[in-house]
Amino acid sequence: DAGKSGYDHYMLKEINEQPTAVRQCCGERVSELERTIDVDSLSALSVPERVQFVACGTSYHAALYGARLLRERGVPATAFLASEYDTATLPVDESTLVVGVTQSGETADTMGALRGANGAGATTLAVTNVVGSSAARTCDHVMYVRAGPEIGVAATKTFVSQQIALAMLACELTDEYDDDLVEALRDLPDKLQSILDSSSGREIAREYLEADAYFFIGRGYNAPVALEGALKMKEITYKHAEGFPAGELKHGPLALVTDRTPVFALVTAGSNPTKTIGNVKEVETRGGPVVAVTDGCDDVARYADHVLEVPETHSALAPVLGNVQLQLVSYWVANELGRSIDKPRNLAKSVTVE
Ligand code: G6P
Repeated sequence: DAGKSGYDHYMLKEINEQPTAVRQCCGERVSELERTIDVDSLSALSVPERVQFVACGTSYHAALYGARLLRERGVPATAFLASEYDTATLPVDESTLVVGVTQSGETADTMGALRGANGAGATTLAVTNVVGSSAARTCDHVMYVRAGPEIGVAATKTFVSQQIALAMLACELTDEYDDDLVEALRDLPDKLQSILDSSSGREIAREYLEADAYFFIGRGYNAPVALEGALKMKEITYKHAEGFPAGELKHGPLALVTDRTPVFALVTAGSNPTKTIGNVKEVETRGGPVVAVTDGCDDVARYADHVLEVPETHSALAPVLGNVQLQLVSYWVANELGRSIDKPRNLAKSVTVE
């Protein structure tokens, strides 16, 4: 598993492993026959009064997504950057579930937050990729995301696995899921594969290689993916990139938009596409190139310079698909620029200092 299997980089291999990662993450947890989602290891957990997620980097973006899923099911949930989590300033007690989302299970900031939560009497849960990791051992409960080993410093397949794991966690905690979600999870690997087979991310990367900066926008479920799209671009290309919830564009970042700053807009059904198209038009009016990542809803193509298509799916899973298109664009920009993709300068896979 640790070889590159013919790919130039581990990162590209791992991007291509995402259909398998989703299948592994779901496994027996999703029963198509009984149309249920059931995470056995968490069956002892009851609905907590509140949920607090703690995480860093890419895992924090998954945590933002997980918190939204829970809020939508009526559970008060917030995502915190682990380095900013402070039990002295938060309501944390026995009725709080603190979820540490961490690929490695070793990140010092996340471990510090989890220890603080344990000390404050919260129930703790590790959502991690590494069996027997510090997070897995420190927390009361553990849910493995089962992505398999990830070698590239920039997280790719583990992000998709975290998203899927958190979608299942939200169902398990609230006992709330629908046939559509079960079906959508079943179909997701094939939809991911169709993006991998047909993406024009490489051509788009070439077109915008000389950009001054790259911006990423999305609303609702797509907002964390906008942040993740920018983080991936920064990590492996060393180019300036920023992501924000689409509504924030007009509160500052719009001042930076020129014909040399492509804006990647995630526009999918269920994540307020009409309003995001309003933001797309603001970019277009100012001469900024727009790349729409879309399932075709609301005909955003009319306002975009390029379209990266994603298949239709359950609204909560659309960001999983959109993210893959953004990963590919970043990968190809970094590739064209000859960057050290698997080991970007100054970065580490697992950061064990605070
Ligand atoms: C490092 C890595 C990132 C990762 C973050 C959190 O900064 O370079 O890719 O997202 O740590 O890591 P974790 O293992 O806790 O998910």
